[in-house]
Amino acid sequence: MTLNLPSQSIRFHAIWLRDNAPDPETRSQQNGQRLIALRDLPKDTRITTAEATPDGSISVDFSPENKRVKFSVNWLRRNAYDTPAPRSPGWLNKDIQPWDQTLKDDVPSGDFEDLRSTPSMLRDWLEQVVRFGFAKVQNAPIKEGGLFELVDLFGFVRETNYGRHFEVRTEVNPTNLAFTGLGLQAHTDNPYRDPVPTVQVLYCLESSAAGGENMVVDGFAAALRLKEEDPSGFALLSEHCARFEYAGEAGVHLASRRPMIELAPDGELLGIRFNNRSAAAITDVAFEKMEAYYAAYRRFGEIIDDPSMEVTFRLEPGEAFIVDNTRVLHARKGYSGTGNRWLQGCYADKDGLRSTYHALLATTPLEASE
Ligand code: FE2
Repeated sequence: MTLNLPSQSIRFHAIWLRDNAPDPETRSQQNGQRLIALRDLPKDTRITTAEATPDGSISVDFSPENKRVKFSVNWLRRNAYDTPAPRSPGWLNKDIQPWDQTLKDDVPSGDFEDLRSTPSMLRDWLEQVVRFGFAKVQNAPIKEGGLFELVDLFGFVRETNYGRHFEVRTEVNPTNLAFTGLGLQAHTDNPYRDPVPTVQVLYCLESSAAGGENMVVDGFAAALRLKEEDPSGFALLSEHCARFEYAGEAGVHLASRRPMIELAPDGELLGIRFNNRSAAAITDVAFEKMEAYYAAYRRFGEIIDDPSMEVTFRLEPGEAFIVDNTRVLHARKGYSGTGNRWLQGCYADKDGLRSTYHALLATTPLEASE
């Protein structure tokens, strides 16, 4: 079927239309879920007639079922797949905006009480998290476990072997370098998990030690810069799996095999895994390509370390930030052993965050607050 609009013609296949029919026998009118499986539809499904109706819909007759279904023109436009040429590797969803250090004067942030009390402000803050992959929160309660109240705003805590939350401060016998005063290279957390935690929250309770600033780097911007400089290096990191591992405490042996730059089959940039501390031996790159792979890995790290890529800020008590752990790398500068610096951290997931954002978009559309 071809939908002829004033500005364009959009083609649809009969089987696609029939599978996506919105009628009550095909889709639950309560929850929108599909009531049939593809096997219920005839292989030789075809369209016998398609015509515009006075209410602005398209009425389609399917054979051999002899079934008539009405489609909204707006729905057809929104879901059209008759699009031009395929996109190049590394393309980004339109909701996402890469950034570098120029974002430092405009760090996405929100006031905790505003986020809790005003849905449109929570919606706007979540939109920033989706767009930039991180955001700060100010004026949050300075109390242990306050980070759970922050997670409650958008989703659910992901519990791990580090607990429901973890403490970030100097320990005498650290089980992980994150718990020492060492500066850490920018990284994504826990690439050895499968799936990785997709959101991390760091929440500041005390901050009188010198140093210890937090720093974030957009891994997508770094990957795109690598692609610009060296397309073959970008291809090596996206087409081969690295391996990651953590076995730093009794009873735990986590391991994963995934690329450092993850693309969808059509080239969409999906995720970054970068963590020098937990990278295991790389064994899935052919001997002939390993040297070039290491050169690309080194260059990717240099781009990530480039100060022009980083946004740095200091968290004060009652301040927190969240990162999309599949995209934005985080680090902290070294801090001194004197004074106190105490953060609590936890993991959550991006699907819940995006769900909250999209549900808020439906109930508090952007026009309402403008
Ligand atoms: Fe970390």
